[in-house]
Amino acid sequence: MLFIAGVVAFLAIRATAQESCETCRCTIDNCLQELVGTLPFIQQTTVSDCRSFLWTSSTVGATTVTVTIEATAVTATSNTVPAVTATDIPAYAAACSNAAAYSSACECVGVITGGTTFIQVESTTTTVIKPAATPDTSCGSAGLEVAIFNNPYVSATTGYPEFSPEHFKNVAPYDTDKTDAVGINSAAEMNNPHGFTPATASIYVLNYRGFFYSPNTTTYTFRLSNADDYAGFWTGSKAQTGWTRANEDGESTYRAPANPPIVAQIQLALTAGEYTPLRLIFANRGGTGKYTFEVFDSAGFNYVEYGAASPFLVSYSCLNPSEAPAYADPFGGES
Ligand SMILES: *[C@@H]1O[C@H](CO)[C@@H](O)[C@H](O)[C@H]1NC(C)=O
Repeated sequence: MLFIAGVVAFLAIRATAQESCETCRCTIDNCLQELVGTLPFIQQTTVSDCRSFLWTSSTVGATTVTVTIEATAVTATSNTVPAVTATDIPAYAAACSNAAAYSSACECVGVITGGTTFIQVESTTTTVIKPAATPDTSCGSAGLEVAIFNNPYVSATTGYPEFSPEHFKNVAPYDTDKTDAVGINSAAEMNNPHGFTPATASIYVLNYRGFFYSPNTTTYTFRLSNADDYAGFWTGSKAQTGWTRANEDGESTYRAPANPPIVAQIQLALTAGEYTPLRLIFANRGGTGKYTFEVFDSAGFNYVEYGAASPFLVSYSCLNPSEAPAYADPFGGES
């Protein structure tokens, strides 16, 4: 019966402090008794619980600290202070059967609806991963994979319509390597592309595959030009599997001098830090062999250009292998 005494004592105090309370309907039930407790005063925790239940919360003094870090192999964390929201009825007030009963009991201990609780929040730390200016290649991922194949397509038809890039999915190459410098524009490069020795001089196919790493969020132009006899390229998932001549992003083929080589290009809006699958196939059927492949942005920055090693061409991602894994199938066993 001590709690009854507590309620009576408290209500007596309250009646003194507040002359009339016509709207108060304080039923001395188990719900109210749980809030009042056995002490002659209301516990601060009870008052706080009532306030967080009945009052609006307002966060003051919060500052957001944004920490920008370079991308590293360590998984970055994001620390945020959990938002403070209206609480449930506290466990000790289990006898308050619903929100109305609890609110009513809260009003009886002096917490009236409509107040505002001010919550001081120290700070919020948000960690932003800043994509690296060039991809991490410390795991040996620099450059595209490249393979050289015999070329069975040697007719001289303009536009090289019989050439089938998809044929090279299932025939074995006779050599493989990696390269970060694409494009063939000299006799020396044509005679020994990427250091390979063609099995038949100037009649061969090169199949390159990997990813283009975009360091900036911008629109990139992928351009293929000046091919003799054929070059085609694919981006996105079809570069990994499913590429065919019919679904190329672009091709350039040799035409007679009056009909110069076709320039093919696409524009892709890419995000900084993204890895875009890329495949490039080049074929020469004899004589001069050449092609140029470039990636640049509207500001004129060249990411891939002839005559220079590109740090943006990789075989896979070192930091995030699940996002850009090494091509799964070996050359000659592709689909
Ligand atoms: C784009 O990326 C390159 C390489 O990281 C950098 O040199 C260049 O300044 C970037 N351009 C913009 C507009 O940020």
